[in-house]
Amino acid sequence: MSDAVAELKAEALLAISAAADAEALAQVEREYLGRKGRLSSLMRGIGKLPAGERPAFGQAVNTARQEVTARAAERREALLSGPVPSGEPPLDVTLPGRAPQVGRPHPLAVTFDRVAAVLTGLGFQEMHGPEVEEYQYNFAALNYPEEHPAMDEQMSFYLAEDLLLRTQTTALQGRVMPTLEPPFRVFTLGRCFRYEAVDATHSHTFHQVDGFMVDHVVSLADLKGTLAALARELFGEEVEVRFRPDFFPFVEPGVEIAVSSRGGWLELGGAGLIHPHVLRYVGLDPEAWSGFAFGLGLDRMPMHAHGIRDIRLLFENDLRLLRQF
Ligand code: FA5
Repeated sequence: MSDAVAELKAEALLAISAAADAEALAQVEREYLGRKGRLSSLMRGIGKLPAGERPAFGQAVNTARQEVTARAAERREALLSGPVPSGEPPLDVTLPGRAPQVGRPHPLAVTFDRVAAVLTGLGFQEMHGPEVEEYQYNFAALNYPEEHPAMDEQMSFYLAEDLLLRTQTTALQGRVMPTLEPPFRVFTLGRCFRYEAVDATHSHTFHQVDGFMVDHVVSLADLKGTLAALARELFGEEVEVRFRPDFFPFVEPGVEIAVSSRGGWLELGGAGLIHPHVLRYVGLDPEAWSGFAFGLGLDRMPMHAHGIRDIRLLFENDLRLLRQF
């Protein structure tokens, strides 16, 4: 009969070492040591033994219980303090590492930074206006007569009668010029919005940089020199800047600006000498002060530099495109 005790004890010890976690161990303890457990049940058969064998059998069962109890306690200790949390596979140091995902600036952000760095270097101060702009700054201050057809070219998203999403960063002129003491040079970059058909080169949301300077005598030569310096920094030493007559109500004369590129011309935006009406609107005497202004599209610069054929790709956040920069 004590063979049965030894066998059951061996079975219990094996089950204890195999218990993978505290819960499995508790289950083993219930099975062997519980009040109705298998070791306790052995005691119930003691009455069937000859009287002489009973003390030795009782003692064997007790010793087995003590041993199994002690071993279970040890196992619990090991499970709780072990270096590997129960349930998790051990660390496999031979597995290949996981490369961290490194982010990078968006091609538009790179363009903004470069343009801003060049203009800052040329003595222009960066200022910002709101994207939700007042009619008076987006149009009236810029010498657009009411109902003028030029406004149709900049179809607008109106939020209220006098409030719209700015169609051009030129809107900053009327806002800040009255607060500045000439001479000054200012630039701004940011988002513009136009209600127009979206295609590969036009988006309802796009980006512009505007710059303007006011001093006693400012000429088209100053404008051309500034834009040529900007273009050289952005597109390389060989680049040519082309001016062609164009109309914008807030400049006189007005020009369209393009830069030479791969045998053709890339249109960047418009520019000109600040119209006397604009100077008067902001409280500057056009007899004493003159200035130039330019406004360039920013989205077409990285498109051109990287051969991105559709402006929408710049805004889709598709990692297959963005990872290439
Ligand atoms: C203007 O917005 C004038 N404010 C520029 C200016 C400033 C002229 C100061 C004179 C003095 P225009 O509408 O042409 O001009 O836009 C300028 C540039 O913005 C365009 O050449 C183009 O590069 C970019 N642009 C305009 N509309 C869009 C559009 N829907 N999607 C992408 N780029 C656009």
